[in-house]
Amino acid sequence: TFVVTENCIKCKFTDCVDVCPVDCFHEGPNFLVIDPDECIDCTLCEPECPANAIFAEDELPEGQEVFIALNAELAKQWPVITDVKPALPEADEWNGKEGKLDLLER
Ligand code: SF4
Ligand code: F3S
Repeated sequence: TFVVTENCIKCKFTDCVDVCPVDCFHEGPNFLVIDPDECIDCTLCEPECPANAIFAEDELPEGQEVFIALNAELAKQWPVITDVKPALPEADEWNGKEGKLDLLER
C-alpha cells in the first residue's frame, strides 16, 4: 500500500487525487491520507505529488513509519476526495519544512 507522509501537512497540493483509479484518498483540514484497504499499489500517485510526500509502505523514509497507522486511522474518519482543488495558501512556504506532524489538524 502507499502512504501519505509528513510533508503533505499544510501543503495539500491534491494533484495525487486526480490519478488514483480507485478513489482512495481522504481529505482532512490540512492533510490527505490513503485508505490502505482500497489502495491497489498502482504507483500512479507517487510521482504526482509536488511535495514528494507519497511513498510505498516498505520504502518509507526514516521517521515516517508513524504515518502508516495515521493513514489507516484517518481514512476511516475523513471523506473521500476525487477532485483537484487549490493547494493550501502557504503550501510553497511549508513545502519541505520539518516537524509538521505537530501541526496536523483532525
Ligand atoms: Fe491510488 Fe494507486 Fe496511489 Fe494507491 S498507489 S493511492 S491506488 S494512485
Ligand atoms: Fe498531499 Fe502531495 Fe497529495 S501534498 S494532497 S500528497 S499531491
